[in-house]
Amino acid sequence: MLNIITNPHPALRQKAKEVDLEEIPKLHQFLNDMAKIMLKKDGIGLAANQVDILKRIIIVNTKDGPLALINPKLLRKSFKKEEAEEGCLSVPDVFGMVKRNYSLTVKAYTKDGQEISIKATGLFARVLQHEVDHINGILFIDKAKNITKGKPRDEQDKL
Ligand code: CO
Repeated sequence: MLNIITNPHPALRQKAKEVDLEEIPKLHQFLNDMAKIMLKKDGIGLAANQVDILKRIIIVNTKDGPLALINPKLLRKSFKKEEAEEGCLSVPDVFGMVKRNYSLTVKAYTKDGQEISIKATGLFARVLQHEVDHINGILFIDKAKNITKGKPRDEQDKL
């Protein structure tokens, strides 16, 4: 089982490295382990930095279950922004309001090495921005306003 590291662990502040495409088939066990711990901790997203692996990999929970995105790139970010409360498995019991682009397109490789492009809006777009920030060494508390400690208003907002 992987372990989720918490702030101020230095791996949370590093920029993760691109994954070589030939390496993708060897990552299946790791991707499964990441999905497993994200679900166990009731997260809706998890970045590899959060398990102390500095690779550009994120997992997002979708209605069809966990989806691994390798070397994700966020494109076509909407002009429209939206503010909502966020939390993070690596910054336990801290919550704050973060302004994010309302919609965007994510381009990435799947666990099968397929290049995909998905349009995301609302919470899904928010999770993607939060997780891509992680692989760039950025935490939501760097951007949040009205930071509070304690229970979130919405239990689901654990990224
Ligand atoms: Co997080």
